[in-house]
Amino acid sequence: MEDQVNGKPLYDVVIFGASGFTGKYVVREALKFLHTPSSPLKSLALAGRNPSKVAQSLEWAAHPNPPPDIPILTADTSDPASLRRLAAQTKIILDCVGPFRLYGEPVVAACVESGCDYLDICGEPEFMERMEAGYHEKAVDKGSLVVSACGFDSVPAELGLMFNSRQWDPPAVPNSVEAYLSLESDKNVVGNIGTYESAVLGVANMSQLQELRRSRPRRPRPVIPGPPPPKGSLIEHQKKLNLWAVKLPSADSIVVRRTLASLTENPRGLPGVNESAEQVEKRENFWSTVKPAHFGVKMGSKSLLSIFRIIAVGMFIGLLGNFSFGRKLLLKFPSFFSLGWFKKEGPTEEEVASATFKMWFVGRGFSDSRLAADGNNKPDMEVVTRVMGPEIGYLTTPIILVQCALILLNQRESLPIGGVLTPAMVFGATDLQDRLQNNGISFSVISKNSLQA
Ligand SMILES: NC(=O)c1ccc[n+]([C@@H]2O[C@H](COP(=O)([O-])OP(=O)(O)OC[C@H]3O[C@@H](n4cnc5c(N)ncnc54)[C@H](OP(=O)(O)O)[C@@H]3O)[C@@H](O)[C@H]2O)c1
Repeated sequence: MEDQVNGKPLYDVVIFGASGFTGKYVVREALKFLHTPSSPLKSLALAGRNPSKVAQSLEWAAHPNPPPDIPILTADTSDPASLRRLAAQTKIILDCVGPFRLYGEPVVAACVESGCDYLDICGEPEFMERMEAGYHEKAVDKGSLVVSACGFDSVPAELGLMFNSRQWDPPAVPNSVEAYLSLESDKNVVGNIGTYESAVLGVANMSQLQELRRSRPRRPRPVIPGPPPPKGSLIEHQKKLNLWAVKLPSADSIVVRRTLASLTENPRGLPGVNESAEQVEKRENFWSTVKPAHFGVKMGSKSLLSIFRIIAVGMFIGLLGNFSFGRKLLLKFPSFFSLGWFKKEGPTEEEVASATFKMWFVGRGFSDSRLAADGNNKPDMEVVTRVMGPEIGYLTTPIILVQCALILLNQRESLPIGGVLTPAMVFGATDLQDRLQNNGISFSVISKNSLQA
């Protein structure tokens, strides 16, 4: 079969890893937009290493309707030629094949080589930074956008921070924004093994990330008004939100830090391939309202016991993940070592449907930026915002990934020509937030208060 029709790729989107636990939910989300009026998604193909498993995913995703007639392509990350074929046939690959540290690079390489765009749902900082170091320049040359973390990792954090920072009307400025993630369900919702495995491998390769960072030039840091916030204790009681909280070592704050570095280098955002004057103005206006802040993420819970559970799981993965026998144990007994949070068979559909998340962004800063200039002044203003939505891994993640793809399909001309970039740098100034809002992920301002001295 020809890869192109009239010089254009055969497909708008290929979902790679469509047979995976998350992949099948991504297929279900994408089908909602295939051939629907005003949707730019006109042609979709699914890909995986096992076509009959991919066909089963399609059947599951289309249920109760019969599976639509969608091409199923075979590709394996250990077969670069199969990936090149995939990349030559499509405008965008949505990569759901993880852990990305094991399987992601050949897919990025094929997309960059062919100039197609690549989005994934990775939450692994080392992979993202390695791809940036190795492929950014070539991706710019080839006109390929490579954007990792287009899922729950890390779009709610990226857009949520920007949303909070935009509520600070001059002369007010934020100094820090702490995000508190709270997962809610009346059922005991578990995560699938794929995410757990990625986290275990992430710990194992922490030293490689440090090494990679040391080998690269330091990127500029944003100028944030006022002193950095105090470190605080291991466990925090957030009285206002009525939550106990502990630091969450997720990818979010690392992705946000990369965005803030890019923004420091490009304060007006990144120019689009072929922007109209109006689009330039819109982009520049948008970025002029985004203010940098120190950012961190904590996992919150109403129960102190759950916080101790999180710490215990973190300790198991942190200690055992560092050596090979420990990793084997962690991966052999996921349910035991995650204290029931992850299972090999993943959550049931009912469990997924029952779950929701709330991510609160507590911004602290100054009612007047001049106050920040005096290093002794403490923040005197607080802005609390919230992002909330359905279950994080298998509902929110597919919604975000598919909306990012739809934006690429119909707004490509106003987006950067290419490069390995963060979601916020590519989609921040687009209508992504409105789209998420229309698809069940909401952004709200909760309160704006002065703080007592
Ligand atoms: N950003 C987020 O918030 C978020 C949310 C959910 C998941 N994730 C990430 O998504 C990734 C997948 O998670 P999951 O739970 O869906 O895992 P999974 O169920 O194990 O799915 C993995 C997929 O990769 C495919 N695969 C594995 N090796 C391959 C190879 N060599 N060539 C081609 N395909 C290959 C598998 O194909 P077979 O079916 O043939 O085995 C399957 O389709 C993980 O890295 C996870 O961390 C991120």
